[in-house]
Amino acid sequence: MAICFHEEKRIFQLDTKNSTYLIGLTPEGYLGHIYYGRKLHKEVNACLLRTAEAPFTPSVNKREKVSFMDSFPMEYPVGGIGDYRESCLNVRNELGQMGCELLYQSFEVYQGKKRLEGLPASFGSEGEVETLEITLADGILGLEAVLSYSVFEKEDIIARSVRVSNKGSESLQLEKVYSACLDMDNEDFEMISLCGSWARERHIQREPLHYGKQSVGSVRGESSHQEHPFIALVTPGTTGQQGEVYAMHFVYSGNFLAQAEINQFDSVRMVMGIHGEQFTWNLSSGESFQAPEVICTYSGEGLSKMSRCFHDFYRNHMIRSVYNHKKRPVLINNWEATYFAFDDEKLLEIAREAKNCGIEMLVMDDGWFGKRNFDDNSLGDWIVNEEKIKGGLKKLVDQVNEIGLEFGIWFEPEMISPDSELYRAHPDWALQIDRREVSMCRNQYVLDLSRPEVVDYVSEAVAEILRSANIRYVKWDMNRQLTDLGSVWLDREHHKELFHRYVLGVYELQERLVTEFPELLLENCSGGGARFDPGMLYYSPQIWCSDDTDAVERLSIQEGTALVYPLSSMGAHISDCPNHITGRITPFETRSHVALAGSFGYELDITKIPEAERQMISGQVAMYHAYNDLVREGDYYRIASYQENHRFDAWAVASKDKGEVLVTYVQVLAEPNKRSRKIRLQGFDEDALYRLEGTEQVYSGEMLLYGGFLVEPMKGDFVSRLYHFVRM
Ligand code: DGJ
Repeated sequence: MAICFHEEKRIFQLDTKNSTYLIGLTPEGYLGHIYYGRKLHKEVNACLLRTAEAPFTPSVNKREKVSFMDSFPMEYPVGGIGDYRESCLNVRNELGQMGCELLYQSFEVYQGKKRLEGLPASFGSEGEVETLEITLADGILGLEAVLSYSVFEKEDIIARSVRVSNKGSESLQLEKVYSACLDMDNEDFEMISLCGSWARERHIQREPLHYGKQSVGSVRGESSHQEHPFIALVTPGTTGQQGEVYAMHFVYSGNFLAQAEINQFDSVRMVMGIHGEQFTWNLSSGESFQAPEVICTYSGEGLSKMSRCFHDFYRNHMIRSVYNHKKRPVLINNWEATYFAFDDEKLLEIAREAKNCGIEMLVMDDGWFGKRNFDDNSLGDWIVNEEKIKGGLKKLVDQVNEIGLEFGIWFEPEMISPDSELYRAHPDWALQIDRREVSMCRNQYVLDLSRPEVVDYVSEAVAEILRSANIRYVKWDMNRQLTDLGSVWLDREHHKELFHRYVLGVYELQERLVTEFPELLLENCSGGGARFDPGMLYYSPQIWCSDDTDAVERLSIQEGTALVYPLSSMGAHISDCPNHITGRITPFETRSHVALAGSFGYELDITKIPEAERQMISGQVAMYHAYNDLVREGDYYRIASYQENHRFDAWAVASKDKGEVLVTYVQVLAEPNKRSRKIRLQGFDEDALYRLEGTEQVYSGEMLLYGGFLVEPMKGDFVSRLYHFVRM
């Protein structure tokens, strides 16, 4: 049993394989956070709540209730009655007054996990997950909050969410509903987050926590290129292999806040949820609001262990696609090959050459519909441009199939070009503020997905294309962030719901898509990797990582992404050089080794690349087939970080039984007069012997783990090696 209630002590105990989480109740019914950390095996108690010392609890010392509210380690803090730290729930009554007090009512424990209505969320069978629901209530407001904790024992994960219901008679306004909080004593924590920009997504950032608030967030309507809905607090000196890590990751694709705050008593409050800026939810009598899920994990063995817990969890309990545990077809995408300048003949030329090289799917990117030859028109007009695709889409798809390739297609369903038939017919379908010209971004506007009729139109337009031909893959793009948050069909009261309603519209669209086309391989994308989040993983097993396909830039992007996401989810392609974004020239081989750590595909004009490179492709495709099962399903170990050392990068993937380990090493900058480099490997069974593929060399696992492996001296910048070890 993962969950137990110690009735006499009034303590809830949640156990995973390696961690324990304790929640306690004061006599008044306040819910306090006692402990999260290394697994406890003996008696537990509630001492850490400090209720035996001043200011005591309100029933003992009513005089100092505010001091209690402002220092007690709250499990789910509310705003307005004395806790001045960041609150998770702010509720305004009909008179416009803000204040709420949640006290314990009841609990329920059950096997399995319920779905979260309208939202992506983790899932698991009765044997895999056990759920605790604690009901709290505010009797004055008639408000009920159900805190849900789903314990995934094997993966060391606790998935948390909150559902708030108005059981009273007055209308309430929720001004903030975060999904999770963790109150702890500070241990000189450092905060790790993932930050960047377009073409530089998810670089790892680490800073000591300081007094006050430190946060990352997005108010752009999507999880964003810039900041990521993930934070981890780590004890000083934490590395890949050692140290304590408390991590939260948000299953949501819109605005978010992830924050840690050190207060006057040197305690830390870590919170995560939908960003409070431009958010209000009106809750009439009888209505409920479901906040999205936060995935929490604790690792007592450093960051690599945290990564592996997230990876296993997402592969086992978040990704639903039939492709989750399957090889994805090796695809070639025409974006960097042609941009908008293509027609059916060009695509068929690429397809023929790709087939000769063993590539398995052609993906037709942006520019196939309406009159689109540039980014300034036709979004919303999902009708094939027969001037480019002569004879229509079905004809092209059939021809590509005859060549022996599967076919995939690009859409940007959430957008509308001002120059489109759709906009001319429905100018009010774009998000817009009354009398204000909409701010343009990449020449386009955003569709108002809070409106059911718009969702219906988009859903049907995409489905119609997919029904019309043998299309096996969709790249779902989103190339601008949200502005001009106005909707002509929402009244004044509901406008602050628009950001969240938009995200619910996106989820509704993707749910309809995967329901009608369950065999479809869906790849989410947002101007590169601006909507790479666990919410999107629920619909698509892979997400385009970044528009930056430069192999060196990808090292940092993929290292940051792999800190939390399984390698199988990272869209990664081999592109042409000089790289279109950085202008850098890297060896074709290195580009393939870096893309091998992701979904693996090509994005270049295969008819134009140098013959020597073209001839390497069939070998690379064979390499993908040889190692993809391992990369997709295995355990990931970070060995060295180019972002930290500025010279080389290395990672390993080991099969679950440690029977084989694939090590990738990239020498970014060559160094003169150096001997071989010793790196300590990870992922090996210390009692086993391994043969290095392609050699007669035998190594013991313990020697590789504790002694190290010598990487041969290599000449040249940006060169790489793969080392595949197989247990003897
Ligand atoms: C942004 C994507 O990230 C690219 O791969 C490409 O699909 C373009 N959009 C097309 O507009």
